[in-house]
Amino acid sequence: MANATHPLPKRSRISSPRSPSTRYWVQTSYENDVTSRSRWGLAASGQVGLPREVAHAPTCLSRRREGKTGRSALAITVPIGQSVRFMQVRKLRADEVSLVAAIDRSEHVEVEYRVIDGQLQQVPAVITDVPAWEPTGSGPHTVAAEIEFCRSAVMRGGVLLGAFDAERTVGLAIVHPSFERLLAWLAFLHVSRSYRRKGAAQALWDAAVDISTAGGAESIYVSATPTESAVGFYLRQGCRLAQPVHPDLFAAEPDDIHLTCSIR
Ligand SMILES: CC(C)(COP(=O)(O)OP(=O)(O)OC[C@H]1O[C@@H](n2cnc3c(N)ncnc32)[C@H](O)[C@@H]1OP(=O)(O)O)[C@@H](O)C(=O)NCCC(=O)NCCS
Repeated sequence: MANATHPLPKRSRISSPRSPSTRYWVQTSYENDVTSRSRWGLAASGQVGLPREVAHAPTCLSRRREGKTGRSALAITVPIGQSVRFMQVRKLRADEVSLVAAIDRSEHVEVEYRVIDGQLQQVPAVITDVPAWEPTGSGPHTVAAEIEFCRSAVMRGGVLLGAFDAERTVGLAIVHPSFERLLAWLAFLHVSRSYRRKGAAQALWDAAVDISTAGGAESIYVSATPTESAVGFYLRQGCRLAQPVHPDLFAAEPDDIHLTCSIR
């Protein structure tokens, strides 16, 4: 149910073409109030685990025990000539919504989704080149409007998550783990154009699911930009058309594709 003090804000979003696969290892770390863990997972191939190249070259890996916990950790020796980069996903402070300005949300879109007769169908995109958010002004599609949307979502209970390549902001997500009873809401998910198809959204989604599960949610609601990339990403996570749609979220974004995903 929408919070009367902070009504659902409007937002503008879009997506990107496939970029060459770069191998990223993802470290996810949360603060103690949610869950405390560190996880190494695969970004580039889109599955949590080991990159195909490394998994098929077991001599690259050795397993060691971590301190008193006895937890197993992987030590990676990078084969000569291969480059492996590290992406960190972590919870951010509310005031770090300003990092939205660092995201290039531009995208070339060939295909988008529509709901026709209750079914998801692909159709040619209406807008094929989605520009970056306007750096100035405060109207629709501006950086300021996006920051305001994010600030509002965080004030309503959203948790801000960021993915980073060293100091560079790769992507941001906001998840409200207890939006309603047993229901979380993924309010925001954007990955910068040059970092797409490297597993950043997957890492942010995984973190959002962990936080939502820890908050007692059994499913996540998403109103997705209708682009092939956004809907493709959510379908990959197991999302399905929301039936019924959430009335407030649908009213806020009637042109989106409204999806839910079971996380139990
Ligand atoms: C949608 C978006 C967040 C995906 O981010 P990403 O970091 O590129 O996604 P990932 O690399 O984690 O992709 C994971 C899986 O999602 C699916 N996917 C991602 N991009 C896709 C695309 N363009 N077309 C089809 N499937 C796609 C694939 O199954 C992919 O796995 P693979 O690369 O092994 O095939 C990103 O394209 C984006 O920020 N777009 C602009 C903003 C937007 O639309 N946000 C969603 C708002 S609801």
